[in-house]
Amino acid sequence: MNALLKQVRSIQSGALASIEQCSDLESLRTLEVKLLGRKGEVTRALHGLKDLPEDERRLAGQVLNELKKSVEEALARRRSGLEAAAMEASLSGGRLDPTEPSARRPLGHEHPVQAIVRELCDLFESMGFTVIDGPEVESEYFNFEALNIPSWHPARDMQDTFWVAGRRAVMRTHTSGMQIRAMRRYGAPLRVVAPGRVFRYEAQDASHEHTFHQLEGLVVDEGIAVSHLKGTLEAMLRGLFKNRVVTRLRPFYFPFVEPGLELDFGCLLCEQKGCPACKGTGWIELCGCGMVHPRVLEAASVDPEKYTGFAFGMGIDRLAMMRHAVTDIRYFMSGDLRFLEQF
Ligand code: FA5
Repeated sequence: MNALLKQVRSIQSGALASIEQCSDLESLRTLEVKLLGRKGEVTRALHGLKDLPEDERRLAGQVLNELKKSVEEALARRRSGLEAAAMEASLSGGRLDPTEPSARRPLGHEHPVQAIVRELCDLFESMGFTVIDGPEVESEYFNFEALNIPSWHPARDMQDTFWVAGRRAVMRTHTSGMQIRAMRRYGAPLRVVAPGRVFRYEAQDASHEHTFHQLEGLVVDEGIAVSHLKGTLEAMLRGLFKNRVVTRLRPFYFPFVEPGLELDFGCLLCEQKGCPACKGTGWIELCGCGMVHPRVLEAASVDPEKYTGFAFGMGIDRLAMMRHAVTDIRYFMSGDLRFLEQF
């Protein structure tokens, strides 16, 4: 019996030390077979029970079973320790850094047209203008009639229109309806800009979209003249393009201004040599503008004897084209990420 106890202690201390020294699951499995396999050390010691005298067999059986149990427990403990280490290594490439930032989800960014809108609003706010907003579905009255464009007026043909079925309303063709809304709400004097989306049922090409963006500007006060209009638009373009642009003002007809003008700027895409974006002319039309027609002031309950004003409505997508040298306006609303991710 004493010899057996000595053998058990020696197997146990040797087995536990070897288990602790195992540094990977593979060698732990080999050791397990060596200890508990059919010909393993512990198994062989258990088989030796039958050779013991009967009176020693019970006690020896107890001692050997405890040996087997302690070896099995030590193997299980080591196995779970090695498995956890292997898992950690596979997750962190061999190390675990709890301060490491997690994988980032791709973030979107401001649309290039919206970036210009924001920049323009900042510029005009710095010149004392208030930024206002209005509806995209507009009544026929605000979009046309109050702007001195009655239903029979041929000027309606200048803006191909999406009508809202069954209602006297349109997808607004321009932001000029905001002139009336602003004057009615705030009275005179006032200085506002109204950016927003506008819609026209028209054939698309490199510089024409059916859905585009305008920024309406309106200043009403005593003694306002065309020189104020010109100075304001030039200050805006200087702010936006840092003196890189040349401009020209041309007389033009809009029923809601008198006199009416259009402001063009030299095409930056071709340095005014002529390209599809400027239709070979070297000039891109940026905005319609002029002095607010007295009938428009009246429609908004502003006294035309006391006040005068200027207004302009500019195409923002075309400014974005110049800013980023985009040769076709249709890219902006295409929703094509290959295009948008470049900004
Ligand atoms: C108007 O919309 C007038 N409401 C502008 C105005 C306001 C005149 C205040 C006087 C006083 P027009 O249709 O020209 O005018 O459009 C104004 C600007 O919008 C154009 O100069 C151009 O820059 C842009 N624009 C017009 N049509 C399109 C289009 N289909 N695609 C992209 N931009 C366009």
